[in-house]
Amino acid sequence: MIIKKFRKICGLVAIAGLSAITTFPAMSATDAEIEANIDRLLSQMTLDEKVGQLNQLSGTGYSDGMIRDIRAGKIGSILNEVDAETVNKLQREAMENTRLHIPIIFSRDVIHGFKTIFPIPIGQAATWRPEMVEQGSRISAREASSVGVRWTFSPMVDIARDARWGRVAEGYGEDPYLTSVMGVAAVRGYQGDDLSQPGTMAACTKHFCGYGASEGGRDYNTTWLPRPLLRDVYLPPFEACAKAGSATFMCSFNDINGVPSSANKFLFRDVLRGEWGWNGMVVSDWNSIGEMINHGVAADKHDAADLAAHAGIDMDMQAYCYIDELKQLVSDGKVSIEIVDEMVRNVLRLKYRLGLFDHPYVDTTLPSQMYLPESLEAALHTAEESAVLLTNNGVLPLGDKKVKVLLTGPMADAHHDQNGTWSFDMEKDKTITPLDAFKKTFGKNLTYVPGLTYSRQKDLSGVDAAVEAAAKADVIIFLAGEEAVLSGEAHCRADISLPGAQTEMLRRLKATGKPIVTVVMAGRPITLPEESKLSDAIIFMFHPGTMGGPALANILTGKVNPSGHLPISFPRMVGQVPIYYSVKNTGRPTTEMMLIDEIPHEAGQTSTGCTTFWLDAGLDPLYCFGYGLSYTTFEYSAPRLSAEEMTTDGEVTVSCDVTNTGKVEGADVAQLYVRDVVASLARPIKQLKGFEKITLAPGETRTVTFTLPASMLSFYDLDDKSVIEPGDFQIWVDNSSACRGKAATLRVVEK
Ligand code: BGC
Repeated sequence: MIIKKFRKICGLVAIAGLSAITTFPAMSATDAEIEANIDRLLSQMTLDEKVGQLNQLSGTGYSDGMIRDIRAGKIGSILNEVDAETVNKLQREAMENTRLHIPIIFSRDVIHGFKTIFPIPIGQAATWRPEMVEQGSRISAREASSVGVRWTFSPMVDIARDARWGRVAEGYGEDPYLTSVMGVAAVRGYQGDDLSQPGTMAACTKHFCGYGASEGGRDYNTTWLPRPLLRDVYLPPFEACAKAGSATFMCSFNDINGVPSSANKFLFRDVLRGEWGWNGMVVSDWNSIGEMINHGVAADKHDAADLAAHAGIDMDMQAYCYIDELKQLVSDGKVSIEIVDEMVRNVLRLKYRLGLFDHPYVDTTLPSQMYLPESLEAALHTAEESAVLLTNNGVLPLGDKKVKVLLTGPMADAHHDQNGTWSFDMEKDKTITPLDAFKKTFGKNLTYVPGLTYSRQKDLSGVDAAVEAAAKADVIIFLAGEEAVLSGEAHCRADISLPGAQTEMLRRLKATGKPIVTVVMAGRPITLPEESKLSDAIIFMFHPGTMGGPALANILTGKVNPSGHLPISFPRMVGQVPIYYSVKNTGRPTTEMMLIDEIPHEAGQTSTGCTTFWLDAGLDPLYCFGYGLSYTTFEYSAPRLSAEEMTTDGEVTVSCDVTNTGKVEGADVAQLYVRDVVASLARPIKQLKGFEKITLAPGETRTVTFTLPASMLSFYDLDDKSVIEPGDFQIWVDNSSACRGKAATLRVVEK
């Protein structure tokens, strides 16, 4: 599927606005030729050599142990080796000192940049610009592949509806449609049109599946996923990435309904390979095969290897289950040689697709691909477009650079932390913080007093100096947030408010009477109910990466008009999670709420109404999915349908006029939502089905048009079948999931 004829190009090419790199001469390997090569190799391989290909280990440099294992044919892939010379030396061992000369594939978690760090994935989603995700992934691939990394463990397309889960940072948010679009863009960016060319990496769509549904937002925790929920919400982004040609998939750590993913035949054999017709390679997660012993579904490594091989996990990452047990399992007749051959075939196919047999080495003589000016510019624009303006009473933009600015707060000069989770290869001194950038922007009008040195700090003794400095400032820019280590894998929080003494510091700053712009840099949604009231404006930046400082400076001054929109709901308080826009109506939807402080003493039990909401938090999040302000305003007309009726195999277009009603140019995200009014199963009150980010001059009106095929209105019934049920559908176009304004009604009829 993803293998086309190798491109007939040689010499120098430029890929999508990036500087030229050498490409390989044209070859003519087709899918059939690759399969024939694999047949030939397989026929020569011993069982030991086959099992060796299924083993992935973490790098230990050009060490005696590695050299010994490679020469013995015991390693198919190495992760975490990022020094080009070492990569070449290890590869030489495989190419020259093994019987069959099968190259090793080197891999790494290049999640949101290798050296040039882009915003964390959830921040990239906040741009609502798939082209930026694609470009960032392309740049990551060019940087990482230049040291020999040809396989990244990205994108992560786990749907995340619980902000306590630290891995919210790594995905594209709560919505299956937005996540699908962004995941596909990342796959395209990493892999390009031809995976065999340098500058590309194989993508790894992860974690299959349901990982984001971990109970309580606690990492690795169990999940319970009924089929319709799995099918309608968790699987679609994986299907989209599989169909976009993601070369590999990774299984997840969690169990679904008691079955750990590493043993989940249904997911890997029935759905991924069976239903979706995908023929890539599946890697386990780190030691996830071995961890089936902890899950309590395998007695030992032998058992675990047996389960994983039958489930369709081709490569064992770091658990030593296959390398230690698979041979015995084959001799005992528990795992057939056909299964092993199929696993090895999938691994070898990946190596052929990557062109590793012909070009196993890194060319260390080429000019550096790191931090190219165009890469930094792309990181800057992505960070700018990922910033979400949550509130603004008019204090922004600052415009006049002559305003006296007090910069304060723990994230103002956090070279490490603004890069967020999974930035193993970033260099602190290449990161431009707000302090670095503001020095240029505001010059001698800038005063910097940190107040707090890191986000969890509870000692307020430094805050007095900040408060004192505020007296001389025209505006306070308070850089709050979370350190990188508070989100990401295994970094969940049960309290998702600003950590440490930050809110208290904000209270003290507020007491100065000076206008306050709060900027939050974090790895997840943060609850900001009080902070929203204390601040004159709030800008939310999911950890923005290398260029976060200049991006913020451009937004504050108004050089750039903020246009990020939330890819995930922001709760008022943690007790609301999981919270997401695409909920069901329930039998008792809320029209009016009596909140806790309004209830008279000794009020009757039913006097507060019997509808669905929290007495102390109401119903809605503080900021909903899709929300984001601008320095201008936009108006949306009622949506127009090309036809009021469509058949179950038909298609309509939905149009809406969007007008910039303010005084400056700005970009907005037009979002298409639908609701199936009456169906055989209760359906969500809104579902995103399309979006477009458009830039409008002041006063300009543009018509956005979405195509809505009936297939997008399908859902899974209780028999695991996809159905499109005739009936009425409501349609909205708006710039958030609030869907203000009147809906259009579309009638779907049997074809
Ligand atoms: C994570 C994966 C990651 C792998 C390799 C695991 O702990 O869950 O997302 O790709 O490690 O580093």
